[in-house]
Amino acid sequence: MRKIVIAGNWKMNKTVAESVKLAAEVVAAAKDIKTVTVAIAPTYLALAKVAEVVAGSNVKLAAQDVHWENQGAFTGKVSADMLKEIGVDFVIIGHSEQRTYFGETDATVNKKVRKVQSLGMTPIICIGETLDERKSGQLESVLTRQVNGAYDGLSGDDALRTVIAYEPVWAIGTGVTASDDEAQQAHAFVRGLLATLYGDHVAQSISIQYGGSMKPENAAGLLAQADIDGGLIGGAALKADSFLGIITPGESLNK
Ligand code: 13P
Repeated sequence: MRKIVIAGNWKMNKTVAESVKLAAEVVAAAKDIKTVTVAIAPTYLALAKVAEVVAGSNVKLAAQDVHWENQGAFTGKVSADMLKEIGVDFVIIGHSEQRTYFGETDATVNKKVRKVQSLGMTPIICIGETLDERKSGQLESVLTRQVNGAYDGLSGDDALRTVIAYEPVWAIGTGVTASDDEAQQAHAFVRGLLATLYGDHVAQSISIQYGGSMKPENAAGLLAQADIDGGLIGGAALKADSFLGIITPGESLNK
């Protein structure tokens, strides 16, 4: 059985004070949520303060990125043990904005996944095609390359401790959402890739989130799809009530 995992990726939004406020609102809003795993990913700067706010609640802490080295001359970067010390549970890895603007590759995604797992945190591995790739018939080849790259060298047990976020790049921040069918087809394809790598049992156990303009109005339809096990939410996670409007339809969905 798979967990529904719904995470708010706050991206480069909210000051520390604003983050603390929103985190407190999310904690209050999610207090009766039982079956969905809820996580929020503030900026690095706000993580330590937000950790204090979510401590003892049912809201998990996520980071938006990590570096794969332990320490050293990597200006601007943050290591996995620094995140671990603060109490981070999930780390978003390979987001399309990282891939597009900051040179993230399938190889660096893989290094980050391994490092995060070695410290007992759970990677949320982001994959997804651009509009050009989809239009030119490369959807499956892009997803295959990204999944094979991210999971390179991971055992079946390692794979069980991952979450995937399928985020079609053309749906991110655009207001355009993949239709329920488009999303379901891509998710089923990704689960098939996992089955090829690790067999059916592992593939059926990994939560695959959808991301890309997910909001209260479309969440129920997307979450009802057989292979959609949650969401990675940008804009709609910046307000507690709209975030809760996405989490609530996920309650009591058994996959
Ligand atoms: P939006 O929900 O703003 O489209 O962002 C999705 C996303 O990139 C989450 O990681």
